[in-house]
Amino acid sequence: MLAVRHYGQRIEAFLRFLCHAKGRRGHGIHSPFVFHLVTEVLSNNRDAATELKPIEQLRRLLAADKRTVKNYDLGAGNWSQSIRVGDIVKKSVSSPKKLQVLFQLARYLQPNIILELGTSLGISTLAFARACPQSQIITIEGSPDIAKLAEENFGKMGVASIDLRVGSFDQLLPEIMPLISPPFLVYLDGNHRYAATVNYFNTLIEPFDTRSCMIIDDIHWSTEMEKAWQEICLHPKSTFCLDFFYFGIIFFRENTVKTHYCLRY
Ligand SMILES: C[S@@+](CC[C@H](N)C(=O)[O-])C[C@H]1O[C@@H](n2cnc3c(N)ncnc32)[C@H](O)[C@@H]1O
Repeated sequence: MLAVRHYGQRIEAFLRFLCHAKGRRGHGIHSPFVFHLVTEVLSNNRDAATELKPIEQLRRLLAADKRTVKNYDLGAGNWSQSIRVGDIVKKSVSSPKKLQVLFQLARYLQPNIILELGTSLGISTLAFARACPQSQIITIEGSPDIAKLAEENFGKMGVASIDLRVGSFDQLLPEIMPLISPPFLVYLDGNHRYAATVNYFNTLIEPFDTRSCMIIDDIHWSTEMEKAWQEICLHPKSTFCLDFFYFGIIFFRENTVKTHYCLRY
């Protein structure tokens, strides 16, 4: 029943999004910063696809992986006794297209620190590591079995520098926050509930500066997430709110008019 309700709400949200969405050529985008981001930074898909080839090969291997792991989804708050690795790829891992956006954005920003809330199999984490070999990358995963697979994947790809922490976001964020200094990039990709999302955002926006960036996943996934996204966009530091439908990106610029764009990618 819940899934059906979410489905109807998502179709409605998508139609609303399409009415306002701007394309890759940047027509109707008045902010020079957002125009540059859309037409220059996020448009080099062929190059991103080449860079991400080894990660996409790993995704294909994992999609065919029949091993099962125990999973407790702290985000949805339910136990699933066991889940196939292949099904995790289908259900939880960022799509190839989204991965390209994450990669291009991180490569452009070159933050000191990347913090990911929701590692899963580590596919998006690996894309960040490829985009920013010099950045410190911290990623949090609540399910120990899934975290073990992510660790395995980091090893397969020869990436030793990722700091993977196992535990709940609520439990680990207080010990991680003192490590966060700008410029930083946050990818919020787990626990899609209204209160949790707003709470993580409010915590992470504190040290946010004009060189930092926050990516929030599934902003139209449910009415709760839509409400959270609306509230996030109202925050005084959310100067540029970029709605890519499946995720949203927040930037902070001083002395700028608050702007919200819906962008197709
Ligand atoms: C959508 S998946 C992450 C996908 C990954 N970022 C990618 O794109 O490849 C979300 C992950 O966050 C974890 N998670 C959800 N809520 C959590 C919480 N409150 N604390 C810790 N982990 C959580 C889930 O176990 C799941 O593996």
